[in-house]
Amino acid sequence: MKNKSLISITDFSTEEILRILAIAEGFEKNPEPHLLDGRVVATLFFEPSTRTRLSFESAVNRMGGRIIGFSDPNISSVSKGETLKDTIRIVSNYCDLIVMRHPLEGSSRYASEVATVPVVNAGDGANQHPTQTLLDMYSIKKTQGRLDNINIFMVGDLKYGRTVHSLLQAMSPFSPTFHFVSHPKLRLPDEYKTFLDSKGVKYYEHEQFNDLIPEADIIYMTRVQRERFTDLVEYEKTKDVYVLRNSMLDKAKPTMKILHPLPRINEINQDVDQSPKAYYFEQARNGVFARQAVITYLLGLKR
Ligand code: CP
Repeated sequence: MKNKSLISITDFSTEEILRILAIAEGFEKNPEPHLLDGRVVATLFFEPSTRTRLSFESAVNRMGGRIIGFSDPNISSVSKGETLKDTIRIVSNYCDLIVMRHPLEGSSRYASEVATVPVVNAGDGANQHPTQTLLDMYSIKKTQGRLDNINIFMVGDLKYGRTVHSLLQAMSPFSPTFHFVSHPKLRLPDEYKTFLDSKGVKYYEHEQFNDLIPEADIIYMTRVQRERFTDLVEYEKTKDVYVLRNSMLDKAKPTMKILHPLPRINEINQDVDQSPKAYYFEQARNGVFARQAVITYLLGLKR
């Protein structure tokens, strides 16, 4: 497998996704501190990030590899007008794998076509965030003991939420039931509903969900993303519609877990943080294992 990249979660078969989850479990149990000795990974972040960039860098460091890159494109020659194509060609000379986040949808696919090393999409606009999906699935499997027949509530910004888009695609083979909870302006785009229809996946759309919480195995909260709105009046109207509070969880299943890709703004009240149902901080920790698995799989070090 020469130069396989991970741009969309659909680039991986279901078998490959399960393999990545198994490799991640292996890293959690048994860190391999020398697996990346002599390897260099470039992290090119054209958009802000805390978890994705730092967990990738932590993953590389924990395996003995080296990191190069930037977290602010203004300190790279992009600020002088260098194209993405030239940037990727050049950086390919300096590393074994590129991790890239960029605001433009399709930019990571384009980068993978130009690069001579594997490219991992760390988020391209409102499109995809496949490694988030892998850590989300790892978290679902770890907390529920299975991936099959999970009742998943996705709440908030379903229109621009790239983590929602990747996750629903990857979970589809596992007979989930989805409940999409959003303001009408932030509904799941039709293309994803068409996808679910084509796979025969059950889904429901709601504007309220308090009474339905007892049905949930997973509540996947998302932030309304100010940076994706061209009309800030719409952002103001939609940003605080859904706020999960501890008092809403009384009738939830004991095994139910709350996930959030983070960062959160107001959509999960801080009084939820102490609940045993809150799993979002552990979820972020799982990102290191999932990203160790992705890097070593794409480099052909783990199969
Ligand atoms: N979940 C996620 O992508 O977080 P960051 O934007 O901090 O990387």
